[in-house]
Amino acid sequence: MITFEGAAKIYPDGTVAVAHLDLTVESGRTTVLVGPSGSGKTTSLRMINRMVEPTHGTIRVDGHDIRAQDPARLRRSIGYVIQQAGLFPHRTILDNIATVPLLLGWRRRRARARAAELMELVGLESAQAKRYPHQLSGGQQQRVGVARALAADPPILLMDEPFSAVDPVVRTSLQDELLRLQRELRKTIVFVTHDIDEAVRLGDRIAVFRPGGELAQYDTPERLLAEPVDEFVESFVGYDRGVRRLSFFPARGLSLRQDMVFEAQDRVERAREAVVAGEDPWVLVVNERRAPLGWVSARQLTEQPSGLTLGSLDKAPFGHTFDVATDSLRAALDAAVLSPAGRAVGVDADGRVLGVVSQEDLGGAIWSVTE
Ligand SMILES: Nc1ncnc2c1ncn2[C@@H]1O[C@H](COP(=O)(O)OP(=O)(O)OP(=O)(O)O)[C@@H](O)[C@H]1O
Ligand SMILES: [Mg+2]
Repeated sequence: MITFEGAAKIYPDGTVAVAHLDLTVESGRTTVLVGPSGSGKTTSLRMINRMVEPTHGTIRVDGHDIRAQDPARLRRSIGYVIQQAGLFPHRTILDNIATVPLLLGWRRRRARARAAELMELVGLESAQAKRYPHQLSGGQQQRVGVARALAADPPILLMDEPFSAVDPVVRTSLQDELLRLQRELRKTIVFVTHDIDEAVRLGDRIAVFRPGGELAQYDTPERLLAEPVDEFVESFVGYDRGVRRLSFFPARGLSLRQDMVFEAQDRVERAREAVVAGEDPWVLVVNERRAPLGWVSARQLTEQPSGLTLGSLDKAPFGHTFDVATDSLRAALDAAVLSPAGRAVGVDADGRVLGVVSQEDLGGAIWSVTE
């Protein structure tokens, strides 16, 4: 556990980097510091490993005042990852990762073996061990940065905008990797970003800073989106927070209609009867393995001669599906909004259609969880 007790950093020129911070960072969890530029995120983070000394207040790690600890030793016991990785350009990837173990006096062989193990853990190919940082992509360099920070197995990991310099696709995959790593390693992670979506994705708890280095709100992502404490936080989390909050509710409880799902070899008249009985203007056509093929509208069905199979008709694309077991209401809503039929297709882990959900049913489900 890391505690800030009235911690502040005021520079000699009068700049208030951090005004007065009371904050408890739980062990084994990811705490995200988020806020606009200049709001004191980096300063707060660096006070933890004494790269910045607070001018007021106390910071404790597991109850121990960090002022009582040797800064160099403290720093070696805390992993630190920054934007653009900050790798040593003239050292190989393997030696970059082995840096801290070597500083701690490990034998070269052991340090390198540990580095090789970490390369695998963060998803790097062993063939890259002998390369130099400039021979890697930005995303790969960030992975090296994470591996290097983890090398001596520190209980605490500080990450300052580690994924900000890579493109959105790589960024998402790095976030996924971090979530996977954290499920395994359970480090105490303090992660700085100015991207609220990244904060919501990664954080167990989120601290929102406002200009002037003040803590505006400290909450779970769900509560932050549901109940921003004031207008600043509300505008910072974004006015679409209602929709984004749906990502915390599972799609599992949605009622899925199966009477509107037909196979390609089924005949037009069967689907027509279902459309009349079910009062639904769309049917979904699936193949023999129940993979979706596309939508057919009621109007289209009435225009077709009987006897034809659904497989022979033109179909509107089914868009993207949602996984009933693992996705959220947000994913289901997104699937419905993007579908030409206005309906979402729910599938199992193998992509087999379990049923379709209409916007009305989705609306009802959303209403009942968020009211
Ligand atoms: N050495 C310094 N002397 C004076 N002011 C400083 C110094 N270092 C930082 N500051 C100021 O402290 C404030 C907080 O800076 P900090 O780097 O913590 O912000 P940040 O939230 O990390 O911003 P960003 O999102 O841009 O990284 C800023 O106004 C900055 O200009
Ligand atoms: Mg910063």
